[in-house]
Amino acid sequence: MALPTPQPELAPAIAKRQPDIAHGQYVAVLGDCAACHTAAQAEKLAGGAPFPTPLGTIYASNITPDAETGIGRYSFTDFVRAMRLGVKPDGTRLYPAMPYTAYAKVSDEDLHDLFTYLQHEVLPVRRVTRTDGISWPLSMRWPLALWNAAFLDKHGFIPDTSKSDEWNRGAYLVQGLEHCGTCHTPRGFALQEKNVDGSTTLFLAGSVLDGGSPINLRGNDGDGLARWSTDDIVQILTTGRNAHSAVSGSMTEVVADSTQYLTHGDAAAIATYLKSLSPAPETGRATFTPGDEATLRTIKAGGEQSVGGRIFMDSCAACHRLSGSGEKLIFPGLTGNPSVLSQDPSSLIAVILNGNRLPSTAGAPSDLAMPGFAWRYDDKAVAELASFIRSSWGNHASAVTPAEVAALRRH
Ligand code: HEC
Ligand code: HEC
Ligand code: HEC
Repeated sequence: MALPTPQPELAPAIAKRQPDIAHGQYVAVLGDCAACHTAAQAEKLAGGAPFPTPLGTIYASNITPDAETGIGRYSFTDFVRAMRLGVKPDGTRLYPAMPYTAYAKVSDEDLHDLFTYLQHEVLPVRRVTRTDGISWPLSMRWPLALWNAAFLDKHGFIPDTSKSDEWNRGAYLVQGLEHCGTCHTPRGFALQEKNVDGSTTLFLAGSVLDGGSPINLRGNDGDGLARWSTDDIVQILTTGRNAHSAVSGSMTEVVADSTQYLTHGDAAAIATYLKSLSPAPETGRATFTPGDEATLRTIKAGGEQSVGGRIFMDSCAACHRLSGSGEKLIFPGLTGNPSVLSQDPSSLIAVILNGNRLPSTAGAPSDLAMPGFAWRYDDKAVAELASFIRSSWGNHASAVTPAEVAALRRH
C-alpha cells in the first residue's frame, strides 16, 4: 500500500547555516543514540542491538555513514523526516521503538549539528540491519501511518513565554532530546505515551519497563520528587546518587552514557523543569511520614518478629542500617526513597534479586555495588522483605506478592 511520503518542516535559513560538529556530538550523547544503536563497542552506532517489544524483536538500524547499510545516502531532509516523523527515505515507517515522538521536539539547529556529526565524525561500518524479529502480520509497517496519525504530536517544542529561559531549556531537553518520557510516562492501549508535552499530570507520572519501574518524576510527596531539591536532581543525573537514593536498573546506563555529560547549566535546567511539575493523580500511590521512629524502636527493643524484618536485620542492615537511612552517598537510604515507594515494585524486587552496580562517573568515580540475593531467598521471602521495607520507617506503600517476585526472577 503506497502512502505519500510526508515532508518535514524546516526553516529555510538552515540551508545557509554553518554546523557545529562538537555540539553535534553533545546532542548525540544527550539523545543517547548509542544506547540503542550500538550493540558492540567496536562498531559504534552500527546498530544490531536487539530491542524486545510486545510485538517481537526490533533491531535498531545502522546509523553510521556507510552508503549501503547505514545512513550515508541520507540527505539532511531525509534525516529530519526519520527523526521527527519516523519515516525512512523510501517511505518505510519506523516502529516507535525509535523515540521519534520525542525527537520531533528537537530544534532544526540541534538536528543539523547532529546530522553533520554523524556523517563526518562517525566511522562508516558495513553491517546490514536485521529485520526478521517480527513476524507477519505485525511486520506490516503501513498501519504505523495510522498510529502516527493518532499519536504523533508533530508540533516542535512550543516554549512557554510565561516561564524563564532556564525552565524552557529544561522542558525542551526532557520532552525532546533526553526523551525521559519514553521510560517515565505511562503508556496507553497502543503503547503510546499517555502525554508527551507536559500538558497533563500523566506526563512522567511513572511507568513499568521490562524488569524495572521508572519512578514518578512529578511533585508527589511519596513516590515523586517533592522532597528533592534541584541540587539533589542535578546530583543524581550527573553522579548516579544523592543523599536520598541511588540509580539502579536501566537508569544506571542512562546516567553512565548520557546524563553524566550534561553541562551544569543543562542539568540545572532539567531540575528546574522537573521541580515545577505538579503532583500526578494520587490514587493508589505511596505516602511517606518523615521522622517516624516506630520501626527502629521495635527493632531495638527486640520486638521485630516478621519474616521480612528478620531478613532485613540479617542481610541488609549492615549496609542500609537498622534505621533504613543508609550512609550518605555510600549506601542509599530506603526511607522515603521514591524508587522503593514506586507504585510498581519491580525496581525494588530486581535490586534485591540481582543487586546492582552504581555507574562510575567523573563526578563520583567509585562504583559501589550491592550484592544480589536471588540465590539465598525464595519468592515468598523476597516478597516479605520487600513488603517490610515498603511499610517501615514511615514508608507506606502497597505490599509485594510472591507472584510479582516470581515474574522478575524468570526475567
Ligand atoms: C530507545 C532506542 C533508540 C534510541 C535512543 C535511538 N534510536 Fe534510532 N532507532 C531505534 C530503532 C529500534 C530503529 C529501527 C526502527 C525500525 O526498524 O522500525 C531506529 C531507527 C533509526 C533511524 C532510521 C535508519 C534507517 O534508515 O533504518 C535513524 C536515522 C535513527 N534511528 C537515528 C537515531 C539518532 C540520531 C538517535 C539519537 C539522537 C537515535 N536514533 C536514538 C531505536 C532508537
Ligand atoms: C531507558 C529508560 C529510562 C530513561 C530514558 C530515563 N529513565 Fe530515569 N529511570 C529509569 C528506571 C528504570 C528507573 C528506576 C530505577 C531507579 O530508581 O534508579 C529510573 C529512575 C529515575 C530516577 C530516580 C532514581 C532513584 O533511584 O531514586 C530519576 C530522578 C530519574 N530516573 C530521572 C530521569 C530523567 C530526568 C530522565 C531524562 C533525562 C530519565 N530518568 C530517563 C529508566 C529511564
Ligand atoms: C554490602 C553492602 C550492602 C548490603 C548487604 C545490601 N545493600 Fe542494598 N545497596 C548497597 C549499595 C552500595 C547500593 C547502591 C548501588 C546501586 O544502587 O547500584 C544499594 C542499593 C540498594 C537499593 C536501591 C536503592 C535506590 O535508591 O534505588 C535497594 C532497594 C537495596 N539496596 C536494598 C537492599 C536490601 C533489601 C538488602 C538486603 C537483602 C540490601 N540492600 C543489602 C549496598 C548493600
